[in-house]
Amino acid sequence: MKETASSSLIISHLLAIILLCICPTNARPVVKISESMLNFICSKTEDPAFCMQALKSDPRTATADLQGLAQVSIDLANATAAGAYPLIQTQLHQTKDPALKQQYTECLDSYEEAIDDIEFAREKWSSKDYIALNQAASACMTDATECQDAITTDDQAFSLPEETKKLFQLCKITLLISGSLMQTN
Ligand SMILES: *[C@@H]1O[C@H](CO)[C@@H](O)[C@H](O)[C@H]1NC(C)=O
Repeated sequence: MKETASSSLIISHLLAIILLCICPTNARPVVKISESMLNFICSKTEDPAFCMQALKSDPRTATADLQGLAQVSIDLANATAAGAYPLIQTQLHQTKDPALKQQYTECLDSYEEAIDDIEFAREKWSSKDYIALNQAASACMTDATECQDAITTDDQAFSLPEETKKLFQLCKITLLISGSLMQTN
């Protein structure tokens, strides 16, 4: 009886050792992002309050490390781009003004590119290629700016300028985080 107990103890110890050994040898502890790090990243954007509020709107931010925060910012940028896209399509189909049609068409193209760049950013994030992630985030900022520049009309009924500004900010946040990841990896 006693022997059985001690051998099962040995087995459970062995199991623990085996389980420990299964862990990847290069596993690093997750360094949870601090409030001051969040503030530091957001202080480099045009609208730090928006940046803080946007990042904190995702519950994952509370326990994320820098890598996890990059994923949050990519998802936020994607949600904004994917949300605004049908708005532009609707606007494009409703307007009769040829000049405006042209502007919305250009803007829609820019959003298509932004969505592609964000998809690319996610792939590069997955493969931990932070240089390419940085480039994709930068391309996304350019796309947002191109849409902003394309729309010269002052259409108050339509939230597109606001959404495009948001998209720019979120891609910039991704750029800043990937910049930090490039330095620490
Ligand atoms: C972006 O959002 C769309 C729509 O919700 C989704 O289908 C797509 O997989 C998302 N892409 C990324 C890169 O998160």
